[in-house]
Amino acid sequence: MRHDHLIGANQLSRADIEAVLDRAAEIDADPSAFADAHPDALLGLCFFEPSTRTRMSFDTAIKRLGGGSVDMGTVESSSVKKGESLADTVRVIAGYTDGIVLRHPSEGAATMASEFVDVPVINAGDGAGQHPTQTLLDLYTIRENAGLDDLTVGVMGDLKYGRTVHSLAAALTTFDARMHFVSPESLRLPRNVRFDLHESGAVVKEHTDLDDVLGELDVLYVTRIQRERFPDENEYREVAGEYRIDADTLDAARDDLTVMHPLPRVDEIASDVDETDHAHYFEQAHNGVPVRMALLDSML
Ligand code: CP
Repeated sequence: MRHDHLIGANQLSRADIEAVLDRAAEIDADPSAFADAHPDALLGLCFFEPSTRTRMSFDTAIKRLGGGSVDMGTVESSSVKKGESLADTVRVIAGYTDGIVLRHPSEGAATMASEFVDVPVINAGDGAGQHPTQTLLDLYTIRENAGLDDLTVGVMGDLKYGRTVHSLAAALTTFDARMHFVSPESLRLPRNVRFDLHESGAVVKEHTDLDDVLGELDVLYVTRIQRERFPDENEYREVAGEYRIDADTLDAARDDLTVMHPLPRVDEIASDVDETDHAHYFEQAHNGVPVRMALLDSML
């Protein structure tokens, strides 16, 4: 890939994406062939917000490539707690490592960090902004289950604060996918994301009711309402639990509908969906390792 840093999905051309997905498929088929690909590489994990999948799958990925990781730990246990700036923190960690994976609550943090270091910065989520590596594993999962051509995707839940949604929408424009966004009025796509989709010429429709589109979908991408981003807890309570699917909901879906979720889920997908052939969200989470191995292989 030709980029020094990966900040947003809009950096990625269709060719970039396909190259990563193809390499991930090679890795998936024979992980042992890549076991010594990067024996001297050290990855810095800098997570200013909680994470299970992104942190652990990057850690797993670099180790499966033969490299290692150093982890900043939690904000509470690091010198961030003493007031150290993000710029100083990443400058120091860049001196220890060959690349930095950064998650931060502020939109734009990864861009800012990338201006202070001369190792690649990978945005692992910046507030309500972007989460491009999640998008790569999402696309890998979609390609495996539904293919990426002639695709109709529904995205439901928190479209306003959901960074995985913003990145996925940008990437899907490169595949000419038809996109249906389903949310309460208060959680519709941000204006800048809608503008970019419009500028790209993408076929986009917005809905408040999943029933309007469920039967047309190849993929339904469900997201958690991002409680931590609401300025007012009452606003969260007004929409919490409204956009939820269970096995009965999916009676109206096509038999081959692929249901995805970036996880963690709270209650937006009932556990009875887990037992159906529609459920692909755990497979999606597992795909984080080969996809992040492929990405690191190309960037380090
Ligand atoms: N999907 C995702 O980013 O999960 P984590 O918050 O656990 O990393």
